[in-house]
Amino acid sequence: MSDATPFYITTPIYYVNDAPHIGHAYTTLACDVLARFKRLDGYDVQFLTGTDEHGQKVEKAAAAAGEAAQPFTDRMSGNFRDLAGTLRASNDIFIRTTEHRHKIASQAIWKALVAAGDIYLGSYAGWYSVRDEAFFTESEVTKREDGARIAPTGAECEWVEEPSYFFRLSEWQDRLLAFYEANPDFIGPQSRRNEVVSFVRGGLQDLSVSRTTFNWGVPVPGDDAHVMYVWLDALTNYITGVGYPKTDGDFFSRYWPASLHMVGKDIVRFHAVYWPAFLMAAGVAPPRRVFAHGWWTNEGEKISKSLGNVIDPYDLIERYGLDQLRYFLLREVPFGNDGDFSHRSMVQRMNGELANDYGNLVQRTLSMIARNCGGELPGPGHFSPEDTGLLGEIYGLLEPLRSAMDRQAFHEALEDIWRVIRAANAYIAGEEPWALRKSDPERMGTVLFVAAEAIRGLALATLPFMPDASHRILDQLAVEPEARDFAAFGKAGTLNPGRALPKPEGVFPRYSGEEA
Ligand code: MSP
Repeated sequence: MSDATPFYITTPIYYVNDAPHIGHAYTTLACDVLARFKRLDGYDVQFLTGTDEHGQKVEKAAAAAGEAAQPFTDRMSGNFRDLAGTLRASNDIFIRTTEHRHKIASQAIWKALVAAGDIYLGSYAGWYSVRDEAFFTESEVTKREDGARIAPTGAECEWVEEPSYFFRLSEWQDRLLAFYEANPDFIGPQSRRNEVVSFVRGGLQDLSVSRTTFNWGVPVPGDDAHVMYVWLDALTNYITGVGYPKTDGDFFSRYWPASLHMVGKDIVRFHAVYWPAFLMAAGVAPPRRVFAHGWWTNEGEKISKSLGNVIDPYDLIERYGLDQLRYFLLREVPFGNDGDFSHRSMVQRMNGELANDYGNLVQRTLSMIARNCGGELPGPGHFSPEDTGLLGEIYGLLEPLRSAMDRQAFHEALEDIWRVIRAANAYIAGEEPWALRKSDPERMGTVLFVAAEAIRGLALATLPFMPDASHRILDQLAVEPEARDFAAFGKAGTLNPGRALPKPEGVFPRYSGEEA
């Protein structure tokens, strides 16, 4: 196995009750960008995504579709797998909770919890929201005018009364608080961390972890009348994916604990409270970090099926392009905050930042080389302070990028990159290479070389965000495939002066279609 540092990153596994939408695409893209960044930076990455296929919500959706649960989930899971492909997600693992290996893993963690004395049989009487697949106490629900009980998430609850196994969550309060204290980076962003800590400080109740009124789930070992609570089953996917219950295997010991579980803000409690408690109780190390991103609205409105304003990622890709969508989603809002999708700002960023700032830099440099240097990359002469200034900015870019990416501050990484794009544009405007063609061709060659070197660094930096466009830029600079990683970042000499370059062609089209 490689001696590179392991990095294991996961998306939530998606419920297969409905078609994938922009929310799913967002979480997957954010993980993909980070997975690609870490690979380029020399890490040994495992990137997991997949589908959450058990539980009442999925069972009901299958029934509504008039299908048996298994063929229904097979079909629906395929849609999520297709979306990952369309998004060019570079996941190494696609897991489904209806796989045999996952049943084995879920039953193994159950047995470990029983062996630890953390599970007992009782009976549950309380509210349950099928939409959230979550239990709510009397004090958490509110009564709507028609008498229906509503969870804090806005979902309708039903009354559930049934025999149930419980997990002794109430006994984990102090250990969880000590764990958060010892691991200040366990939850990001800080606001979510505060929320979780105050929730746990408020006291924890034992958690119902099995159901008996339906059977679409993993059977409880030794008691077939129960299926495991879907969240216990679902969370376990993260360890199934790396080989649990074979904890002494190479794979598990290499990749677990996970470096990062990326989740939406709605599912922080499951990941940052229940999951570490389950794991610690089962004698397995908790993950290193959970980061919760915000939610998208559509042109200012909450996205919902009933409003009919669900955003289909395929539509956006068709209209604007995949790299454009990837860029927009990670640039538009500080990662962790909520964001509003609007066609206006999508087009503004696509035309202003991609076509104008980045696209023009690449396009005008490469076409000057094509026109004035016979299509061959010019060699540099003596470097002026302006040249070394720009080269310094490029070579200095990697460190701030690493820092931003380790904090999941994607927007900040892109701002850092765009600062250098603007500096490169200002450099070209100041050096006026077009005016040097006759007066000082050697100086013109140096300026175009420096600009090309800046573009090489920028294209490496944008590879995780916009893989297609960035590779096309590197193609146009004739950068060898093996020099397309961060080890080559600050390595001058990767560009070969005298080398014939392919005919330049634009990489970032302007959006000229109709405003939506
Ligand atoms: N199955 C659970 C996760 C289990 S992980 C062990 C689940 N699935 S989900 O399909 O409902 O949601 C998956 C992700 O999509 C969540 O992280 C959620 O936050 C995200 N989003 C759903 N709607 C969203 C937006 N409108 N905007 C951004 N992300 C949103 O939860």
